[in-house]
Amino acid sequence: MLLLQYHNLLLKSLLTEAVDTTTPPIAIDQLVSDFDNVTFHISTPETKTKILVSMYIKCYNDLLKYGAAELLQREYGPYVVDTEQGYNFSLLIDLENLPATVEEREALVDKISLLKRNALAAPFERAFKQFDELSTEATQNNVDLYAPEASQTEVMAIHYRAEESIFIKPSYDRVTVIFSTVFKDETDRVFGKIFLQEFVDARRRAIQNAPQVLYSQKEPPLEIRNVPNLKISDDIGYVTFVLFPRHLAAQRRETCISHIQIFRDYFHYHIKCSKAYMHSRMRYRVTEFLKVLNRAKPENLEKERKTASGRRFDKR
Ligand SMILES: *[C@@H]1O[C@H](CO)[C@@H](O)[C@H](O)[C@H]1NC(C)=O
Ligand SMILES: *[C@@H]1O[C@H](CO)[C@@H](O)[C@H](O)[C@H]1NC(C)=O
Repeated sequence: MLLLQYHNLLLKSLLTEAVDTTTPPIAIDQLVSDFDNVTFHISTPETKTKILVSMYIKCYNDLLKYGAAELLQREYGPYVVDTEQGYNFSLLIDLENLPATVEEREALVDKISLLKRNALAAPFERAFKQFDELSTEATQNNVDLYAPEASQTEVMAIHYRAEESIFIKPSYDRVTVIFSTVFKDETDRVFGKIFLQEFVDARRRAIQNAPQVLYSQKEPPLEIRNVPNLKISDDIGYVTFVLFPRHLAAQRRETCISHIQIFRDYFHYHIKCSKAYMHSRMRYRVTEFLKVLNRAKPENLEKERKTASGRRFDKR
């Protein structure tokens, strides 16, 4: 099984080469694509020692609403520069002004390769913060855990692909993350359903610490019924992850954000892999059947006709 990584591999290898102080700087002009139509442009527009890294991300508008600018400033502060035309966020690395040690330089490269992950982390961090506030408030007011939810928190919607979105809803005892996903064809939908059913069952059987996973087709889950402009259609499925306080412990949050972001990519990757596997089995079956058919041909039978002692029949 392929392990998808949270950082962009190509971006990382390009930058690792670039910050290597033992080699002379080179001119770079490269476009790098990531999942969900995220595009990076790595270039050296002025001099070979100044590398501009720009990112285009479709849902930047949504992310800005949920605090992406502050988060990116926090993570990349000294490197942030005016945004390059056609992109949404730019960083400038000055090779003549790099951190002193190799470890620090590696850390910088790692951090920049996580640009997409960090931009998308903004709404999650915000939801977790709201969860903290709401749960403290709830304990102070002695809210009955089983009472229906009193406060209506906003649902954050991130339209990260043309027809697919992530919805995040914090509450005082959980954070709900909902993915809407479009199945381009019928087979994908069937596979998707089986996979997701497996998520639900696995939790029931053994992995009780995993977040609760729910799946619904066409019908949007209750949490997001009130979201405006929700497209209702047969080929849209909704996957709901319910994160409970134990998933939201301070030391787990970062991993939790990374994992959940990559869910869709994993999911669709596995659907494609299963289809490829099925197809290879089918092709195998077809060649096996063809062999059987070939063996059954009458002229082959004729040749095989022999006497009991092993001599061939002479038909004449
Ligand atoms: C992101 O960049 C694209 C391309 O330049 C632009 O059309 C879009 O308006 C930008 N989004 C935001 C929120 O700045
Ligand atoms: C990615 O961008 C291309 C061109 O801008 C567009 O045709 C395509 O539909 C986009 N894909 C997604 C998943 O948004």
